[in-house]
Amino acid sequence: MTQTTVIPGHIAIVMDGNGRWAKKRFLPRLAGHKQGVESLRRCVRLCIERGVRVLTVFAFSSENWNRPEDEVSGLMSLLAGALAREVPGLHAEGVQLHFVGDRMGLSDKVQDGFLQAQAHTSGNERLVLNVCFNYGGRADIVQAAARVAGQGQAITEHSLNAAMGMAHVPDPDLLIRTGGEFRISNFLLWQAAYSELYFSPVLWPDFDAATLDAAIGDFSRRERRFGQTSEQVIRSSAQKVTV
Ligand code: IPE
Ligand code: IPE
Ligand code: MG
Repeated sequence: MTQTTVIPGHIAIVMDGNGRWAKKRFLPRLAGHKQGVESLRRCVRLCIERGVRVLTVFAFSSENWNRPEDEVSGLMSLLAGALAREVPGLHAEGVQLHFVGDRMGLSDKVQDGFLQAQAHTSGNERLVLNVCFNYGGRADIVQAAARVAGQGQAITEHSLNAAMGMAHVPDPDLLIRTGGEFRISNFLLWQAAYSELYFSPVLWPDFDAATLDAAIGDFSRRERRFGQTSEQVIRSSAQKVTV
């Protein structure tokens, strides 16, 4: 019997390892980040080809401001350049762009770039690409709680979820971290409650079809139980097949 591959509807990625990729080549860290942009472009295309509907990437955390000043300013100009260069191609491929995270602290140019890119691609339906920039999972939960409370609403899972930066998409099915570290680093704390986790030693600039397919293959072989027993899961999937 051939095993069919289950494609995750929503993949989230902590794109880690740019600095080490550059260091291995005796290059400045920013060269690694530049290569990281190339890798993201390739990853978007691969996700489209495989039928993934939502891709969410961690591009800059609220803690990354603590890096050396020249790296932070380099990353900001890389972002501004990528916004100008990449959006037409993404639009042509049917990508709907969203920028998730705190806009405060970002330059007017970047903020305008975010708004324009979102407006320009809002009608696209092939792939939703969420770029988490100046994003922190805890900060997102806090701002959602403050918003719900400010509106005088009761704090429930539903109301909090609706006030969160990722309210427009379902939770990630598969969360990948490249770069060999086994941690979440304040990414999607709320939304990853039942995501399948996959850690790869591959450095982000080297992320390719083989790495993505290995992650999807691994995901395919997992049994997602959401608190139920294995027997319940098998029974309900058998029922789904027979109806
Ligand atoms: C991830 O790569 C990109 C950002 C955090 C902006 P790193 O820059 O963290 O790369 P390493 O972990 O130092 O190799
Ligand atoms: C997480 O990577 C953030 C991004 C990939 C944008 P970091 O490199 O900042 O994470 P830590 O510091 O190793 O936990
Ligand atoms: Mg890192």
